[in-house]
Amino acid sequence: MKNPVEIIIKKRSGGKLTEEEIRLMVYGYIADEIPEYQMSAFLMAIFFAGMDDEETYFLTKCYIESGVSLTFEANTVDKHSTGGVGDKVSIVLAPVVAACGGKIPMFSGRGLGHTGGTLDKLESIPGFTTDLDEKGFRRIIDDCGFSIASQSKQMVPADKRIYALRDVTGTVESFPLITASIMSKKIAEGAKNLVIDLKVGSGAFMKTLSDAKELGRRLKKVGETFGQKVRIVYTSMNNPIGAYIGNGLEIKECIEYLQGKSYPDLHVINKALAVQMLMLSDLANDEADADKMVERVIANGGALQCLSRFIELQGGNPKVTEDTNLLPQADVEVPIYAEDSGYVQEINSQAIGYAMVDLGAGRRELTDKLDYGTGAKVLVKIGDKVNQKDCIGTVYCRDEKSGLEVTKKIAEAIKVGKTKVEDEKLILDTE
Ligand code: URA
Repeated sequence: MKNPVEIIIKKRSGGKLTEEEIRLMVYGYIADEIPEYQMSAFLMAIFFAGMDDEETYFLTKCYIESGVSLTFEANTVDKHSTGGVGDKVSIVLAPVVAACGGKIPMFSGRGLGHTGGTLDKLESIPGFTTDLDEKGFRRIIDDCGFSIASQSKQMVPADKRIYALRDVTGTVESFPLITASIMSKKIAEGAKNLVIDLKVGSGAFMKTLSDAKELGRRLKKVGETFGQKVRIVYTSMNNPIGAYIGNGLEIKECIEYLQGKSYPDLHVINKALAVQMLMLSDLANDEADADKMVERVIANGGALQCLSRFIELQGGNPKVTEDTNLLPQADVEVPIYAEDSGYVQEINSQAIGYAMVDLGAGRRELTDKLDYGTGAKVLVKIGDKVNQKDCIGTVYCRDEKSGLEVTKKIAEAIKVGKTKVEDEKLILDTE
């Protein structure tokens, strides 16, 4: 048996690791037999030397086998997003696909830094819980077609430990490490099909389409090696999604959208993902058929009904789907004004996301408590024409002073210039 130093040197020198070598490092680390300094050096060696598809598969397999996995009889389909500002898509997508007959076992995450988390948004609904045991999770899927829950601690514990170490050793942005981290969780969760919303742009992890495509290729390859069907939808993340950012406010937007109110970008992204999920689940014959199914369940209220039943089954007050005033909303409202006249050239979504942390709508540390009622409404998108002093949004806060500071940060994040720019293309590619 090799010792960890030999394995670190082999990877550092560009060598190809065997399954046994990867296993020795991963399991040695989670058993506390390999110290953090050696695991950190190993991660940095992977960061610089990379891993080929076979090594990435072995790493993913080790992660999965470090904990428990689920399996489902039904032709289940899940969605993963690489994360964005105002990304509330799962909360409308799951009921839409469920209303079309899909079965969606979805585990989701919490927000940290500039991006929000689906679990936090859902927990802003009075009484709602995301902490379910396996029996409860399965029962809810059988009843209303989908459940969104927090991942059990027994699932992929290796990723949890290693991700925390990557976070403090500058080794997050590595294709093989990201691939193993995302896909181990998605495969252990047991969905037979997976649609990935891979975000590209200033507010995303992947800044360029070519980087996103390389990550997409790897994610797909690993999923398929495990027998999972994977579709990747590349979406632009230069504008925050929809109008609202902040936990309770985003739930209000989701409900309004499913009631039929127009949120054009949320609709485009939701539909693109829902179409792929319906196709992978063999519920639609072709894209045109899937498109019609999505439009129908929004127009006839079927998706809203699914959302209401899901909220009730997970302990929340389903009446929020009839009366959004039951959701938390901070009562101090400060308007945001455009700083110049012209066209919106650029929106720094990341800066807006960080401004939400100042309001308590996002976290600096995973242990931070959230204020579910605070956030912002941003009414402009790249390409829109504005006049100086136009009201372009609202900050919802607890006191005017903090609201004014955040208003300033959001106005600065929205760059206005004289040249006309094209509206953002939202769906960049599907593979
Ligand atoms: N999301 C994950 O779950 N893991 C990563 O490594 C990056 C994003």
